[in-house]
Amino acid sequence: MNEPLNDKGVIHRYRQFLPVSDSTPVISLSEGSTPLIHSPRLSEKAGAEVYLKFEGLNPTGSFKDRGMTVAISKAVEDGAKTVICASTGNTSAAAAAYAARAGIQCAVILPAGKIAIGKLAQAFVYGAKVVAIRGNFDDALRIVREFGGIDGVAIVNSINPHRIEGQKTASFEIIEDLGDAPDIHILPVGNAGNITAYWKGYREFQAAGRSTRLPKMIGFQAAGSAPIFHNQPIEKPDTIATAIRIGNPASWQGANNAVSESGGCIDIVTDEEILAAQAWLAANEGVFVEPASAASVAGFLKCHSNMRCSGCPFSSTLRPGARVVLTVTGHGLKDTETAVNFGGFTPTEADANLASVRAALDKS
Ligand code: F0G
Repeated sequence: MNEPLNDKGVIHRYRQFLPVSDSTPVISLSEGSTPLIHSPRLSEKAGAEVYLKFEGLNPTGSFKDRGMTVAISKAVEDGAKTVICASTGNTSAAAAAYAARAGIQCAVILPAGKIAIGKLAQAFVYGAKVVAIRGNFDDALRIVREFGGIDGVAIVNSINPHRIEGQKTASFEIIEDLGDAPDIHILPVGNAGNITAYWKGYREFQAAGRSTRLPKMIGFQAAGSAPIFHNQPIEKPDTIATAIRIGNPASWQGANNAVSESGGCIDIVTDEEILAAQAWLAANEGVFVEPASAASVAGFLKCHSNMRCSGCPFSSTLRPGARVVLTVTGHGLKDTETAVNFGGFTPTEADANLASVRAALDKS
C-alpha cells in the first residue's frame, strides 16, 4: 500500500523552523498555506498595496490551527492523554479538532454565554468536554493554569510556546508570497499570542536571509477590552467581538515587544467600527470574516482617515506603493448571528412565480 499523502500542513512546510524532530508524530489537518488576497478597494483608498491574509480558510476556520498542529503534535510526543484550554471559542474549536485527530481527550473551559454559536458547536461536534464558567476568559485561563503539572495533561493555550511557534508560520507565508516582508502588518489583539507569533516569524525569516526588512506591527483591541492600549488590566472586558473579549492578556509583554521593536503601535476600534468594517469587507471585497477579525479592517480604515495623527507609524509609513497586510483571523460563518442581527437581514418573501419574485426583487 502507498504511504498516505501527508505532505501538507505547516509542520511539513516549515519543519526546519519548528521544534519537531523525526520522532514527533505529525497531527495535521493540512492547515496553513492560506491565501493572501489583494484588496483592490482598500488599496485604492490608501494609495498603497493592501492584502488580506485570510486565516478563516484554515481547517477549523481560524488561525488557531497553525499553533494547534504543533501544540498537539508535541503533546502526543510527550505522552499527553488529555489537552485542556481556556477559550473565547476559536482555540477550543482547534484544540477539539486536533485532539480528535490525535485520538486524545480535550477539555475546554469557556466563558458562559459569550461564545459564538458556530464555535460552541465545533467544540461539541469534535468531541470535547465543554465547561462554561460563570466568569470571563481571564478567569478561565487562570483555572486552566492550575491544571499545569498534572501528569498526562497538556495546556494548549498560547502560554504553551509550541502554539506561538506554529502561528509564526503565517509571517513566513506572507514573506514567500510577497517576496519580502510588508511595510505594515495590522492584526486584532486579544490574548496577544498572535502578534507575538507574527513578530517572531518576521524576525526569524529576516535572520535566515529570507527577507530584507521588518514590518511595523499595528495591533487593534476592541475599545471595551483594551488593556494593552490603556496599559492596565480591564476587570470587566466587553465587546461584540467576543473572540477578543480579554482583559488581561497572557502575552502582554510579547505584544509590547513587537510594537516597540518594530516601531508600531496598539490602538482601539469601537464595536460600531468593527461591525461596519465587517459588513463593508463582505459587501465590497467578498470576504466574510468574524467580528474580531474585522478589527484589522476597522483599524485600517480608522488609521487611514486619521492620517494627520502625529507620530503615527501608519501615516509615516504609508507612501504610494507601500505594502500593507491585514490578518483577518477567523471566518464569518463562525458567528452568523452577530452579522445577521447587525445587518437586520430578512429575505423578502414571494409567491412561487416569476411575477411575484420580480416584484420582491424590486422591493428589496
Ligand atoms: N481573532 C480571532 C478570531 C480570535 O479568535 C482571537 C483570539 C484573536 C483574533 C486574538 O488573537 O489572542 O492571539 O491576540 N482568540 C482566542 C481564543 C483568545 O480563545 O480563541 P490573540
